[in-house]
Amino acid sequence: MTKAIYPGSFDPVTFGHIDIIQRAAQMVDELTVSILSNKVKSPLFSVEERVNMLKEVTKEIPNVKIDSFSGLLIDYAKSLNATIVVRGLRAITDFEYELQFAQTNRKLAPKIDTIFLFTSLEYAYLSSTTVKEVASFGGDILEFVPPAIAKEIYKKYGIS
Ligand code: PNS
Repeated sequence: MTKAIYPGSFDPVTFGHIDIIQRAAQMVDELTVSILSNKVKSPLFSVEERVNMLKEVTKEIPNVKIDSFSGLLIDYAKSLNATIVVRGLRAITDFEYELQFAQTNRKLAPKIDTIFLFTSLEYAYLSSTTVKEVASFGGDILEFVPPAIAKEIYKKYGIS
């Protein structure tokens, strides 16, 4: 059984993340989408809120599980018996960080490998940060996130 982890902050989940989740889930037996709980000091959404939002947008994909973790990704991967880490690449600007991250992880745990999926072109510009910025000024984010997620984001900014 091939188990993979798609780790990230997902603050909040966007169509770009959903695209990667859908495609990665087709390649493995079980995909765990997992939120790092101690990375961003002041996230917009709590880990629990992000878990719930991820559960909502992946409920139709049977082999996807949602979880959270703290500490080193490779330790978490080992605890799940996962051998693959999935990351999305949007543009060359992502590359340097991702290369360093993947190679460090490989050095720490040679049996765990990272696979990269290029984000579909229509989402190549998308990031959680820009979605939050647009929403905070009352801009339209329905091209970026599903309606249920947009509602939660606007709620955080007191926009209905
Ligand atoms: O969505 P993000 O913020 O780009 O995700 C980054 C994440 C969560 C994948 C990454 O920061 C992570 O896994 N951190 C855990 C700590 C770790 O294992 N670091 C590896 C050594 S550099």
